[in-house]
Amino acid sequence: MGNRVTCVDIDPVKIEKLNQGIIPIFEPGLEQMVLKNVKNKNLLFTTNLGEAISDAEIVFIAVGTPMGDDGSADLQYVLAVAKSIGQSMLKRLIVVDKSTVPVGTADQVKATIQKELDLRNSDLEFDVVSILNF
Ligand SMILES: NC(=O)c1ccc[n+]([C@@H]2O[C@H](COP(=O)([O-])OP(=O)(O)OC[C@H]3O[C@@H](n4cnc5c(N)ncnc54)[C@H](O)[C@@H]3O)[C@@H](O)[C@H]2O)c1
Repeated sequence: MGNRVTCVDIDPVKIEKLNQGIIPIFEPGLEQMVLKNVKNKNLLFTTNLGEAISDAEIVFIAVGTPMGDDGSADLQYVLAVAKSIGQSMLKRLIVVDKSTVPVGTADQVKATIQKELDLRNSDLEFDVVSILNF
């Protein structure tokens, strides 16, 4: 649709493969769509979160939420990304949680980002949005 999208992962092998046009998931039409948008520079892959969000307007968190021993979702990866966002953001952001998380997680994401901004003495503003999966 013409948006510029940068995908971030901490796994350098995954990012390297994506940059080589090797797509790890199958979905009809996905490979052509990815290759076309990489070619026209609307789609980028990187391990550098700070660089990726420096001029972003919207950030989607889509890391894993594995089930813990008691059946609840393990939020450590979601909150680790929230912390990195708070440490790196340079302008107002909309942060969207796309990971599958329980009600109340947006409050934790918000508090985690705000804590990092406070440590930076930053008055940057942000909004947190949750996408529910049914
Ligand atoms: N797969 C789907 O179709 C689907 C659909 C809707 C929602 N979801 C939800 O999205 C979430 C992710 O699902 P998935 O199947 O893509 O999981 P996945 O485990 O395949 O991918 C998660 C990725 O996050 C990366 N990661 C971990 N910590 C990171 C960090 N700090 N910074 C950047 N990247 C990091 C991992 O290296 C991994 O590549 C889950 O909560 C899932 O329930 C998935």
